[in-house]
Amino acid sequence: MLARVLSMRRGAHTEEEDELDEHSQDDSKTRKHLSIATRITNYFTRTGYLCPTIITAIIILIITSYFLQSRDLLCVSSISSFDRLSRTRFFGLDGLDSDFGALGVPWCRSKHGKTVEWTTKDLLQGLEEFVPIYETRPIKNNMYGMGFDHSFGLWFITRWLKPDLMIESGAFKGHSTWVLRQAMPNTRIISITPRHPEKYLKKGAAYVDGNCTYFAGKDFVDFGSIDWSTVMKKHGVSDLSRVLIFFDDHQSELKRLKQALKAGFTNLVFEDNYDTGTGDHYSLRQICDQFYIQGGGHSCFEDSDEARVRSVRKKFWEKAVDTQELCGPGESWWGVRGYMRDDFNHTNKPISYSQHFQNSRYVESILDLYWELPPVAGPSLTHQTRYDPARAPSPIVEDGRFRLFQRLGLSRLEPSVFNGYTQMVYVQISDKES
Ligand SMILES: C[S@@+](CC[C@H](N)C(=O)[O-])C[C@H]1O[C@@H](n2cnc3c(N)ncnc32)[C@H](O)[C@@H]1O
Repeated sequence: MLARVLSMRRGAHTEEEDELDEHSQDDSKTRKHLSIATRITNYFTRTGYLCPTIITAIIILIITSYFLQSRDLLCVSSISSFDRLSRTRFFGLDGLDSDFGALGVPWCRSKHGKTVEWTTKDLLQGLEEFVPIYETRPIKNNMYGMGFDHSFGLWFITRWLKPDLMIESGAFKGHSTWVLRQAMPNTRIISITPRHPEKYLKKGAAYVDGNCTYFAGKDFVDFGSIDWSTVMKKHGVSDLSRVLIFFDDHQSELKRLKQALKAGFTNLVFEDNYDTGTGDHYSLRQICDQFYIQGGGHSCFEDSDEARVRSVRKKFWEKAVDTQELCGPGESWWGVRGYMRDDFNHTNKPISYSQHFQNSRYVESILDLYWELPPVAGPSLTHQTRYDPARAPSPIVEDGRFRLFQRLGLSRLEPSVFNGYTQMVYVQISDKES
């Protein structure tokens, strides 16, 4: 497994990134982390200025430096709480960069392999534009809601698609409604959420939109029970491919996919596309995590490479999952320990591998496009401490590119806003064969 996934590591930057960043190259990414002792030795060797006393001093320095570094390695097994410094020392900055995808990045196959139109350059330009917008958000502390990465993703996708109507399921205090509004200032929103966001206004910041139909409070109806043809007529929408639906309601994504398809919707964004072994609902990423997909499927064998790598990573990333957490009885690694969770984990059904496999075949049969938002920047820049880069695609701003990070305005944001990345995904669906 490891050999296979290591070969997937990303290489150089794309042309677009280099073009955009030509005046802001930062060499810290490629610079090796030589110990001070090694650097001093190299200096004296180069200048030819060596004498026996200096050689002895250098040897002592090298030995001390070696023991100081290896102490970090030895301490790894005894670190119980997260320690960013130890993590950075253990992996090194270069290590952080090449870590992305080291344990595989499963994805859902679409019917014809269609990809999105936007490029990394578009994402970088979008970031530059979005940071000042994000700084004006009304809800500064959106704990339990979206952080920066997904706010950017939702804004970017919406602005690119320019839908005629936006529907969101799961609004909480209204931050995602506000993000949709920033992307499309004059377009109607339909917001479905049990508790009306205005209720949160009594306690603090919340956002209530003036051009929005709320199915909330006493008017709440679940997405799957709404008569969409009547609602679409009422909103003057005849072309459902011009509607964007955003799900952040922690319901099974398989269930939502079927409901959306039945109603005729085609463009969907899922906020919490949880990784295998994590989360409170069955996600597309979980469904598509299959052995036949590169980077997919898992080994529950406790002496496997995967188990060893996972147990180390668990000590450094809060959301990393080790093999004990990944695998349920009978080596059931799919979903969450062989379970299909739904509705904030209020329902939790065991499923067999063959059911899980059938689910992935079904999803593939209706998918026209699958695009996971990459994290906005590497953890040496954002100081995020939660998601494990080994299970994520390479970030838009790679580790070591501090000047670019700074130029985009990202260094002005508090580190805590980067802690909510869970592989937001944009999909297009249809039941058409071709
Ligand atoms: C994680 S929060 C949404 C956060 C919000 N999108 C944001 O970014 O700030 C999940 C929301 O889903 C709502 N919810 C629960 N069950 C739901 C359902 N069946 N349909 C729609 N929303 C639901 C919860 O009340 C909660 O407000």
